[in-house]
Order: sequence, then C-alpha cells, then structure tokens
Amino acid sequence: MRRLGSAGTRRTVAACVEAGPLDFGAMPTYRAPRGTRDLLPVERAAFARLEAVAADLARRYGYAPIDTPLFEQSEVFERGIGAVTDVVEKELFRVLPSRGEERERWALRPEATAGIVRAYLQHGLQTWPQPVRLSLFGPMFRYDRPQAGRFRQFWQWDVEAIGDAGPAVDAELIELGLRFYAEAGLSDVQVLLNSIGDPASRPAYLEALTAYFRSHQRELPEPELARLATNPLRLLDSKDPAMAALVAAAPRSMDHLCAACRSHFEGLQAHLRALGVPVRLESTLVRGLDYYTRTAFEYYRVGEEGQQAALGGGGRYDGLAELLGGKPTPGIGFALGLDRVALALEGGGPAGAARGGLVAVVVGADPRDTATRLRLATDLRAAGIPARADLGEHRLGRQLEGAARDGAHFAVIVGDELADGQVQVRDLAAGSQHSTNVVDLARELTRSEGSHHHG
Ligand code: HAM
Repeated sequence: MRRLGSAGTRRTVAACVEAGPLDFGAMPTYRAPRGTRDLLPVERAAFARLEAVAADLARRYGYAPIDTPLFEQSEVFERGIGAVTDVVEKELFRVLPSRGEERERWALRPEATAGIVRAYLQHGLQTWPQPVRLSLFGPMFRYDRPQAGRFRQFWQWDVEAIGDAGPAVDAELIELGLRFYAEAGLSDVQVLLNSIGDPASRPAYLEALTAYFRSHQRELPEPELARLATNPLRLLDSKDPAMAALVAAAPRSMDHLCAACRSHFEGLQAHLRALGVPVRLESTLVRGLDYYTRTAFEYYRVGEEGQQAALGGGGRYDGLAELLGGKPTPGIGFALGLDRVALALEGGGPAGAARGGLVAVVVGADPRDTATRLRLATDLRAAGIPARADLGEHRLGRQLEGAARDGAHFAVIVGDELADGQVQVRDLAAGSQHSTNVVDLARELTRSEGSHHHG
C-alpha cells in the first residue's frame, strides 16, 4: 500500500512539474469588453474635472442631483424611447436574470431621460414646485458598433427640466450646455436647432415625408424601406451614407409646424437672441429617440457636424410622461457625451500616472523599519495631509528618488534622532533640509505647503 501510494505521489509531482510551464503558456489574456475602456488615473482625473464643472454649473443653474438605477424594466425604454429606433431595436443591452423574477425584462440604460421621468412619476415629483430641475452624471450602455468616439459604455451629463412648457426654459438649457463646453475648455462649439412639431402638426408632416420617400422608394436601402412604413421620421437620421442626398432634399418639419409649435419655435429663437446665443437652424436634425416634440438640438464643434461627432444633444419631450403612464407633463433636457468632450480636450489623453497633489513622503534610513514610516504617514493623513510612506525595503537614496518622482513637495526623513522626537524635513524642490519635532510635523507641513503654493 505504502509503495503504491508513494509511487502515485511521485507521478503526480512529475506531472505537475511538466504541466506547470505549459499551463502558464496557455493562460488567457483578458481584455475589457469591446467598446468599453478602462479610465486610467489621468483619464479618470479628466472625467472628475468634467464632473466638477457639470456639478458646479448644475448648482449655479439650480439643477438638483439625482441618480437612477443602471438598469430598468425594458418597457421603460421601449415605450419611452420608441420601439422602432436604433437605440431600442439594435442597441439595447438586455439583462437576463439567471434565476427568480423571470417575468421581469430588464435592460441597461441607454440614456437617462426615460429613467428620470419614470422616477418623477413614481415619486410624485409633480407635487413639487414646477419645473423640477434635475442633473445626473453617469455611465450609459448601447450595444452599438464601436468606433472612434462611439462606445458601448459611455458617460453622459444629463440635465432635465420637467414641468415647464417653455420656450424660455428651452433657451436656458441650450445656453447651459454651451456654457459647460466653454467652462470645460472647448470654445468652438455651436448649436444646431430644429423644431420637429408635436402631435398636432406631426401627421401632416409625416404624410409629406412619406410621400417624398415613397417617390424615391427605389433608392432606399432595405432597412430604411422597412422603416418608411413604421417610422418615417427615423429616415432623416439614417446613418447610411447612401441616404445623405435624399435626406438633404426631404420636406422640412419647420415648414409644417402647427400655429402653436411655430410660435413656440419663434419664442425660443427670440430668447436665444436675448441671451446672445447664436444657433444654426438645421432642418434634418430629428434626433434618434422617438419621445421628442418641438425643440430638438445638438452640439458640434465647428466643422464637425457629421453624424458621429455630436458632443451632446437634447430636446423637448412633452409626451413622454404620458407614454410612461403619467399625466401629461411637458419636459426638456439634454445629455452631453463626456467621453467625446474628454477626447476633444485631450486628443486621446496622455498615458501615465496622475499626480494627486501629494504633499509628503515618509522615508527612512533603516530600510526595514516600514512600521515607523507607515505610522508617521498615517498620522499625517489623519491630520488631513496627503502623504504616503515608502513601504518597500529600499535604501534611503532610492526612497528619496521615489518621493521626487511622485511629485511630493517634502520628504520626511526618519533616522536615529527619532529617539529624541526629531525628524528631518527636506524640501524636494529647493533641496533645503532642517530638523523638526515630530509633534509639530503636521502643523509645519501644512504651513510650508501653503507657502509652497503662494511662494
Ligand atoms: P443622445 O443624442 O442619444 O441623447 O445622446 C447624447 C450624447 O451622448 C450624444 O450627443 C453623444 O455625445 C453621447 N453618446 C451617445 N451615444 C454614445 C456612444 N455610443 N458613445 C459615446 N458617446 C455617446 C440622449 O441620450 C437623450 N437622453 C438626451 C436628452 C436628455 N434629451 C432630453 N433629455
């Protein structure tokens, strides 16, 4: 028995030794899913800055923060955005629960508006003073073909004003979007504006549009032909280049507005003039979501008015609350694509480590005494000072190099004199050094850091 057992063990050991390197060779390499990306520290810092600009503007304009779940019942999007839209037909990430609640059909949110209006209705926000101004910053998901500036997970700053029929609030929002780009650092952004009418003017316009595309039926690519019967408006924002010339010559919604829509559109333009906001009227701008009524707008950098390049877009959705089971409630909003803004600002974003305003690094003459260094750094952090300790067991010279490389302003050097309560503080930029009592360290670093900034 024993001999058999030990022979078996030997075989197993031999097999492991043989198989080991092969197993490592066959290790899969994992990558972020196609169309998604990791925001490394520099990119994450750029996003944080954009979020701070957005949050500050939201505060100044009175838009209160809100968050909704990353997924909703699919119907919220199907009914809200429209079943015959790219976003719902092709791009919805549906979530299949692996157990329980089988009857729920969920989808990751492709945008924020439908979820926010769902929340507005669910929580009775119509009893608040109207309009309710809301702001949301977060990731959205669309199962789109990934390409430059088009991701499957992307970030939006979404703003909604629910409960005001406009047109003054429409102008407030359009100007707010432009101010965001300017404060974020993009000064060459322009607004493209259209009015796509409402249920009163829509039928006559759709009739004209359908008749026009019918007369060009033979030039229509297959999916567009199918949509002509179900949702002719969508043909105007077809991504198919073969459609461009046809779309350019199509009847314009602006010419088919009912009297109320026309006066709303004129009122909006008058308010924008009063604010000094220039706009370019664009008759083919219909937006990719079905809930829009009247006002529709998009933001582009000058010279980049292509389909894929919109930095943001929005419009009025006076019928959306009703579609989601609520009382008729007007609303308007926009969403700005933060990935595209970040790309436009950074030209892709430099790689590297973000320098996080590190004030001090605690280093020491005894490489192995990591406990003392960690304790001192922890005390500094507790006192509110951004600090780290060198926790590798390196010689002092290397620790100091690391502190300089990380952009710290000071190195706190721990040596034998700690027995007398003293440490050395070295100003890494000036190269000067002096000793200080450890009980005064935090106060002194705070004071020196202040003069570092102002000096
Ligand atoms: P949207 O035009 O579908 O509108 O998206 C707004 C912005 O999000 C786009 O202009 C673009 O900058 C960015 N975006 C959209 N899809 C992608 C993608 N796949 N990758 C990167 N960026 C993308 C809406 O979402 C509406 N909810 C806006 C709104 C709010 N309307 C009324 N209220």
